Amino acid sequence: MNVARALPHDSARLHVTGTARYVDDIPVPSGTLSLAFGLSATARGRITRLDLGPVRSATGVVAVLTAGDLPFANDISPSVHDEPLLAVGEVFYVGQPVFLVAAESHLSARRAARKAVIEYEELPAVLTIDDALAADSRFEDGPLVWEKGDAKSAVASSDHVAEGTLELGGQEHFYLEGQAALALPQEGDGMVVHCSSQHPTEIQHKVADALGVPMHSVRVEVRRMGGGFGGKESQGNALACACAVAARLTGRPCRMRYDRDDDMTITGKRHDFRIVYRAGYGSDGRIRGVDFIHYGRCGWSQDLSLPVADRAMLQSDNAYHLPAARIESHRLRTNTQSATAFRGFGGPQGTIGIERVIDHIANDLGRDPLEIRKLNYYPEQDTRETARTTHYGMPVEDFALHAITEELESTSGYHERRAAVAEWNAVNSVLKKGIALTPAKFGISFTLTHLNQAGALVHVYQDGSIHMNHGGTEMGQGLFQKVAQVAAGQFGVPLEAVRVTPTDTGKVPNTSATAASSGSDLNGMAVMRACATIRDRMAEHLAMEHQATVADVRFMDGQVVVGEAAYSFADAARKCHEGRISLSATGFYRTPKLEWNRLKGRGRPFFYFAYGAAVSEVVLDTLTGENRILRTDILHDAGTSLNPAIDIGQVEGGFVQGAGWLTMEELVWDDRGRLRTHAPSTYKIPACSDRPDVFNVSLWPRGRNREDTIHRSKAVGEPPLLLGISAFLALSDAVAACGTAYPALDAPATPERLLAAVRRVRDMET
Ligand code: MTE
Ligand code: MOS
Repeated sequence: MNVARALPHDSARLHVTGTARYVDDIPVPSGTLSLAFGLSATARGRITRLDLGPVRSATGVVAVLTAGDLPFANDISPSVHDEPLLAVGEVFYVGQPVFLVAAESHLSARRAARKAVIEYEELPAVLTIDDALAADSRFEDGPLVWEKGDAKSAVASSDHVAEGTLELGGQEHFYLEGQAALALPQEGDGMVVHCSSQHPTEIQHKVADALGVPMHSVRVEVRRMGGGFGGKESQGNALACACAVAARLTGRPCRMRYDRDDDMTITGKRHDFRIVYRAGYGSDGRIRGVDFIHYGRCGWSQDLSLPVADRAMLQSDNAYHLPAARIESHRLRTNTQSATAFRGFGGPQGTIGIERVIDHIANDLGRDPLEIRKLNYYPEQDTRETARTTHYGMPVEDFALHAITEELESTSGYHERRAAVAEWNAVNSVLKKGIALTPAKFGISFTLTHLNQAGALVHVYQDGSIHMNHGGTEMGQGLFQKVAQVAAGQFGVPLEAVRVTPTDTGKVPNTSATAASSGSDLNGMAVMRACATIRDRMAEHLAMEHQATVADVRFMDGQVVVGEAAYSFADAARKCHEGRISLSATGFYRTPKLEWNRLKGRGRPFFYFAYGAAVSEVVLDTLTGENRILRTDILHDAGTSLNPAIDIGQVEGGFVQGAGWLTMEELVWDDRGRLRTHAPSTYKIPACSDRPDVFNVSLWPRGRNREDTIHRSKAVGEPPLLLGISAFLALSDAVAACGTAYPALDAPATPERLLAAVRRVRDMET
């Protein structure tokens, strides 16, 4: 049995020996050119002078292109055609590509790109959320509002109100492999593109438009990414289109990779948010109604901001039943990088809003936040169906958090440790400890319903080896291995019999991005169906040969057993080939049950929910703001896991990335819109040493998807990022130990911010 086994990542050996091949490692034909963009130095302005003479005459330069040189579409937007590849007369952020250099080497292209003389007529730039509100600079005509019941009067008529504002920073993806692409011109109008993208079909589409050719002329191949995290859903379009256009115009292969500083300067990041909340609750701690206002800073172009902001609204309940809720969401247009998908896709921002509310209520009532959480959880069983319905009208049918929380409370020793933390804090005035248990409920499916489809192509060769291909991409999350396990399981063969192959738009067409955590749900099903088609044909043929019935044919232990007879899988494949049976098939899957109206905010956007919970304990030095996560315990529901080793890796990575976002990763723009934190020297991601000192991660043993997903597994890519909220609220708990006022901590809770919060809480005391 291959499914549910804790096998290592298919490329683990290649990764650790440095032999896994990334785009920039692909051997290229002689004559291949390297590209670099010349970037805007101003946040908003009209270009009054563009002198590219010094660029053209620089060493090694072969071609220099501006918008006017592009033969067809100047558009790399994944949504509303508002994002040119090269600026047209006007620039909208610092780092916007203005021109393109093709040169004999990567360094000569980069050096030449710096030699341009560009002058601008500076225009007023909209940089911050406040700037955007003052200028009414936004996408869509006004805010999107969803309402369940009458939230404002529910809040007004409550015994108590918790209100406040939470500022949330953005986050740089910091994939280890930067953005990269390679375009190889073919005969006629053909183009082959290798790139580091979560969305090969969109690259194919955008390249076809840029070249003015049909999609059939472009083939895109992605073997793997060195991390994507959402940052390679749309942000690779620029490089692929640049390479394809330069390759067409020069007739030479072209490749491009962003240097780290350029990558951070040019590409979009997680949306930073401001969340304003007013929550009404009773003296018992039960929420009566919540009124949220979300302000999302979307950057200069729309990109994926609308669905990202929608998902923040969708996650505004997290684990809690909100009897009345109103969410007003503002999607603000600013002269900064166009914010984009990032693990959780807006969900983490929405989730932390309600977690903050709960924490605030507990503080005001002087109770353990965990009590308030459990009190407000969706009920497991309740005769009133409304109590098990989200604010957008979707039933919560398998709410697992009562059980998960109870188990985690006991395995983590939550109550004893909370008591120990209180004792510690009573006698220590400098080092304060904090602890928090936070839950996560995350909706699984693309909220744009038509994206929930996938295709696969499987071949069985006559020697019994299997070639497996599907539309999903591998970014380190282990999708290829999990799906290969599904294929091996279908044929009852060892995993080595299945070849994992690069994603290829020529094999499986019209794919969705590998995103929304749905990679294994969608592609696992499509591959299973393709395998089942071939297996059924084989079974029918062999049964006929043996005057047996199809039900007598079994595929197991590398053999095909037909009644009394048994063949090796290879012999069975050979026999079927000789019997002229087709050993190749496609498979297709679309997620059932989905129905969603985003403007009304009503329906069933998700197939199901994934759950998890984390307890983090931290220690904070109240004189410096420095801190550590002492211990984190996680219990996460991956359903019946397709591969527990890989899934635990996803949970660990998701938690650390979430904690990094909320505690140490800080993006700083100056008052001219320049990102000052554009390298690891100034932007701090968690290092190995920032991992919790004790880190106990388990998959929930009782997990099993009540919906008919691939082997009853659950998606696991994004949900664990929400668990990082426990680290943030544990820090808040440590600050709270310095006084009685609510710390109202903003994120990221850097040492500076923690120190300021400690002062605030102490000042309020005196
Ligand atoms: N894990 C690794 N190692 N690298 C990544 O880039 N991306 C995350 C998550 N886990 C990512 C990752 C994001 S944003 C998503 S949507 C999912 O993986 C996508 O893959 P899946 O659908 O196969 O889970
Ligand atoms: Mo993930 S943010 O959906 O790529």
